[in-house]
Amino acid sequence: LNKLAVKAGLKYFGTASDVVSVKALDATYASILSDRKEFGQLTAANGQKWFAVEPEQNVFNYTYGEELTRYARRNKQLLRCHNLVWHSQLAPWVETTNTTAWTKESLTKAMVNHVTHEARHWRGQCYAWDVVNEALNDDGTFRDSIFLRVIGEEYIAIAFKAAHAADPHAKLYYNDYNLESPSPKVTAVTEKIIKPLLKARVPIHGIGMQAHLVWNRAPTLDNMIAAIDSYAVHGLEVAITELDVRIDLPESDVKMQIQKEVFANATGACVQRKACVGLTVWDFWDPVSWVPGVFEGQGAATLYYANFTKHPAYDGIMGAL
Ligand code: XIL
Repeated sequence: LNKLAVKAGLKYFGTASDVVSVKALDATYASILSDRKEFGQLTAANGQKWFAVEPEQNVFNYTYGEELTRYARRNKQLLRCHNLVWHSQLAPWVETTNTTAWTKESLTKAMVNHVTHEARHWRGQCYAWDVVNEALNDDGTFRDSIFLRVIGEEYIAIAFKAAHAADPHAKLYYNDYNLESPSPKVTAVTEKIIKPLLKARVPIHGIGMQAHLVWNRAPTLDNMIAAIDSYAVHGLEVAITELDVRIDLPESDVKMQIQKEVFANATGACVQRKACVGLTVWDFWDPVSWVPGVFEGQGAATLYYANFTKHPAYDGIMGAL
């Protein structure tokens, strides 16, 4: 897929992976994961998150993240680095410390310290950083989090500035779900993130559309293109960063055909827009997908079945590249 994607003008076609499980899991999986013709870019599904990198305040541990980033380096695959500031999978000390213990000043300092250490550690290795992940609600308001509550909206600008200072050549992204089709949330990306940051000359270079899609209520091709254009018009690049398309189990041919169309549309939207630099699937093998564990009754969201035969969606992507 990566080979075709590059021919089609994209920078990469990639996948997320949780390398810890890979090693224990399956040789076939590993051979696909390491094949640059298939996946030219990798994202650590968990290893670069706050809980893994700074489990205790000012105690940094890069071993989990390094498993994947070392793997990508060895196989000459680009890295998207994920992520620096997010309300979820945080280290307990950030949240469970009696929150009244945090002042705006002390939490700002702790956040900047986290961003600085982590981005500096991987400095020069990441094509892009997801600097802030999921800061908006679906209605376009800012999502409640320890950062919003204690620091206020400006935590976003502060995080981007710190990331830029620590890793000046990486593309800095805002990444979120439900950004694939015009909506109040998509409008808020422009009004509450892009415009204020650009106006304040804070470095932001890209918008990540996670694209955790659902087979029977996915955006159309035109909607996805409209969403991409809404970010690109401000001069930003765009990436589809966590693509999967879950179906209601059990599988059927009809559902898999519809899934194929959804994967093809996402790919086609990216190919058709110059601003869109690449796509990343959120893992490519059903047995390691996060979907069944989180969305009850849903699954088969990736490109390969358990026995490594390909979903029809694989051909759908090829056709769109
Ligand atoms: C998921 C991982 O895939 C799971 O292994 C983990 O248990 C939870 O997080 N949005 C994101 C990703 O930005 O980091 C999430 O990854 C999926 C939703």
